[in-house]
Amino acid sequence: MKLKHFQFLFFFSLLLVSEAEKDKKIIDDTSTSIEKHSYLVSILFNGKHICGGSLIKKNFVLTAAHCIPILHHSHYSIRYGSNKVNSGGTVTKVTDITIHHNYNASTPFDYDIAILKTSNPIEGVNVIPISIAVEEEYDIPFMLVGWGALNSDETASNQLLEANVKMINRKTCQKMYVNKKITDRMICAAANGKDACHGDSGRSVAHNGGLVGIVSWGRGCADQLYPDVYTNVAYFKDWIDGVLTDNSTMNIWNNNLNS
Ligand SMILES: *[C@@H]1O[C@H](CO)[C@@H](O)[C@H](O)[C@H]1NC(C)=O
Ligand SMILES: *[C@@H]1O[C@H](CO)[C@@H](O)[C@H](O)[C@H]1NC(C)=O
Repeated sequence: MKLKHFQFLFFFSLLLVSEAEKDKKIIDDTSTSIEKHSYLVSILFNGKHICGGSLIKKNFVLTAAHCIPILHHSHYSIRYGSNKVNSGGTVTKVTDITIHHNYNASTPFDYDIAILKTSNPIEGVNVIPISIAVEEEYDIPFMLVGWGALNSDETASNQLLEANVKMINRKTCQKMYVNKKITDRMICAAANGKDACHGDSGRSVAHNGGLVGIVSWGRGCADQLYPDVYTNVAYFKDWIDGVLTDNSTMNIWNNNLNS
């Protein structure tokens, strides 16, 4: 089985709880806007988009640990307030990186979470932090948002996209990934549409939503049998709160990740 780590797709998206169910029409490949998803930022690695990120406080961006290939803040900056992946908005420098201390870059599937700090506040037009989901939920609509890969040629979309996805419980997900442990740090979701690819089909609303997942890994594009696996953000609520409030934890924790 070929497992793909989405870093290599230059792909990153977020899974959101949608509190409103009113807008459930399924439309293929839906473009969306930063006005609607104002917490979404682009993380730049040496000046180029590598992953999306989620603004959780005006100086802090949540992302996946595997989006940080080199552990030095000088390589990273944040573009915010833009629909486009490589232009527009405002760019500010990252000044600090915290990667979960249990993340191991040799086995980069578990504890796939990191927080980037900027010294300049990320604020302005179309910039609003998002709250962290407090628990896992399975029966409400979720929306995937990001500059996801449009197809398996691994090109990121220039325009922000959204898609409906549904949660798959951990047991079912584990049955599909027989050779890979689905831990409590992971949640699984599959696209509703046929020939699902990230950024494919679907439209929903995520206003007032909470952040549920960060795209972590999966089997690849267009294989409906295999759900995508996300970092279970609710599991890390205490860890996130700790990083945001205790100034002393804001440093580089991880020693497994070498440049
Ligand atoms: C990281 O994972 C590799 C591969 O399983 C293992 O050999 C190594 O000991 C791990 N490192 C740490 C610090 O746990
Ligand atoms: C963290 O910083 C805030 C404001 O900068 C300060 O009030 C607080 O005492 C600091 N906390 C710790 C644990 O140092």
